[in-house]
Amino acid sequence: MEKIRIAIAGIGNCASALIQGLEYYGNPANQNAPEGMMAANIGGYTAQDIEVVAAFDIDARKVGKTLDEAIYAKPNCTINIIDPQKFPKSNVIVQKAPLLDGVSEHMLDYEKYPKDTTFVVDTEHEPVDIVKVLKDTKADILIDYLPVGSEEGVKFYAQCAIDAHVAFLNCIPVFIASDPVWEQKFIDAGLPLIGDDMKSQFGASILSQMLQELAFARGHKVKCHIQQNCGGNTDFMNMVNQSRLKSKKISKENVIRCQNDIRNIPTDDSFLHAGPSEYISYYKDNKIATFHLELEGFGGSPVTFDARMSVIDSPNSAGVVIDAIRYLKVARELGITGSLHGASAFTQKTPPFPMTFEDAQYECEMLAKRQLTDLTRPQANRQKK
Ligand SMILES: NC(=O)c1ccc[n+]([C@@H]2O[C@H](COP(=O)([O-])OP(=O)(O)OC[C@H]3O[C@@H](n4cnc5c(N)ncnc54)[C@H](O)[C@@H]3O)[C@@H](O)[C@H]2O)c1
Repeated sequence: MEKIRIAIAGIGNCASALIQGLEYYGNPANQNAPEGMMAANIGGYTAQDIEVVAAFDIDARKVGKTLDEAIYAKPNCTINIIDPQKFPKSNVIVQKAPLLDGVSEHMLDYEKYPKDTTFVVDTEHEPVDIVKVLKDTKADILIDYLPVGSEEGVKFYAQCAIDAHVAFLNCIPVFIASDPVWEQKFIDAGLPLIGDDMKSQFGASILSQMLQELAFARGHKVKCHIQQNCGGNTDFMNMVNQSRLKSKKISKENVIRCQNDIRNIPTDDSFLHAGPSEYISYYKDNKIATFHLELEGFGGSPVTFDARMSVIDSPNSAGVVIDAIRYLKVARELGITGSLHGASAFTQKTPPFPMTFEDAQYECEMLAKRQLTDLTRPQANRQKK
């Protein structure tokens, strides 16, 4: 099979985990039964078929460096899946991107946040022409890993994807795949996209979704669902700025709210809160999530559920992205345009259409077999005429 050529905007912790994961699962010994991943083979593609051809960032410690150096550079703080000394030399150089609204002002306060833990904006290089690089490198897919709140930045990269004719994977809560106006632009360009805002493999969102689904399936009313998250990486530091956080909270609550919407259960009847609550530097890329649910069961009898989960945040999202990349490649080959509904619902917090876990998984399995379904509704994946 031909390689899937990806370009990445934002070489932070998620990109580091993804690129280390591609090296790890690219090892032929891990190909057929890749423990820790959801799907070995999607449409004939394995992780070994994915190749990074371009990378963009704005941080002085990453721009101008080779990808193998940049993924381990500060302020990245995720775990080493591959020992940095053993990571093969990359021929991809991280190129300077336009800054736009990528960096929150508070993160440049070095008295409060030591440089090793926060962003340092590069001033030595000029931003490159992103569209030209995407075309020159023949990228198939552009992945957007910008910090939360980069409204302008995400829209800029989405437009670059359209202009360079590459598919788009929007891993952050700025609404593109779930916005009909943006989706139409991709349909007009004959391109597929997946978004918005990654739903990690075994993270707080999928756990909240499954708890909500379970409560409804077992005839319970959900009176209250509270999900709180703490972490110590730059993603959490960025979200200290409340003005950048708004879309993240909406996106996290969408995961729970859409399970009510599918079943026509009013959300207003229950208390709902999901969002990042605190930055604690000590945690680094370790995320702690807590869950508190109050349910009403048989004859109004009360059920209280409390749980705490500890995960490494960035690798938890990387496998999901390896799957989404392959769904986009298969969709391109099948001529499907616009937002991929099943793949977005399976891999993202705010997809264009809410789905149950089972329906989203079914649609993904069908796409992996290169079969289109009419399971969802008229808005199901569109095939180019
Ligand atoms: N499990 C997860 O970690 C998870 C889940 C869902 C969503 N997300 C989202 O994914 C995104 C990436 O997460 P992360 O942990 O890698 O963040 P990060 O802070 O580690 O990385 C962001 C990177 O973007 C770079 N950047 C800033 N402005 C830029 C610009 N204009 N152009 C190019 N690069 C720019 C930064 O220098 C940094 O390297 C965040 O928005 C996060 O909320 C992460």
